[in-house]
Amino acid sequence: MSAKRLPGTPATAGSEPAPLVRAVRASDEAAWRRLWADYLLFYGAEPPDEATDSTWKRLLSRDDPMFGLVTEVEGIVVGFANCALQGSSWSVRPTCHLEDLFVASDRRGAGAGKALLDELIARARENGWRAVYWHTQRDNVTARRLYDRVATADDVVRYTVPITR
Ligand SMILES: CC(C)(COP(=O)(O)OP(=O)(O)OC[C@H]1O[C@@H](n2cnc3c(N)ncnc32)[C@H](O)[C@@H]1OP(=O)(O)O)[C@@H](O)C(=O)NCCC(=O)NCCS
Repeated sequence: MSAKRLPGTPATAGSEPAPLVRAVRASDEAAWRRLWADYLLFYGAEPPDEATDSTWKRLLSRDDPMFGLVTEVEGIVVGFANCALQGSSWSVRPTCHLEDLFVASDRRGAGAGKALLDELIARARENGWRAVYWHTQRDNVTARRLYDRVATADDVVRYTVPITR
């Protein structure tokens, strides 16, 4: 799908044009990797390089449940959403997990994050997916302000067993 301005994308902040959202492509690699590095810094996370390399390949692969969107302003990629489709025992329709959402710190507050979410939800509707869901830290107030405008937080509690090797 080509880049498009979304219906309902907020008016531009000052002279900043509205963000465009499109599928990630191979030529985005340098920009995506820079943003990904900033995202990891935000979380204080240090996954192995092989995980980053694998994620990048999987986002581009047409045969992988993982896929990626990016948002660009005036040709500059300023944010991404990494997603994956999952099978469900409750439905024949896949569920979409939004695993990572990030907008460059100097580009926030201009609708890029909302544009990524809106595009993902629009794709879910177009494709008949069962739902789009994501997690966030309870105290991520900034992200949750945005999320509360597009979705409802449920009362599911997540349990995790880390498996070390
Ligand atoms: C969460 C995150 C992705 C939001 O991205 P963003 O591009 O700033 O989001 P938006 O601009 O769409 O919305 C944020 C705010 O800007 C406002 N806004 C949106 N478009 C606007 C515009 N054109 N003019 C002025 N304000 C605007 C929104 O109303 C919203 O305001 P609010 O905070 O009062 O609700 C970003 O803050 C981020 O990357 N954070 C660090 C990583 C992170 O927390 N990721 C989520 C992990 S689950």
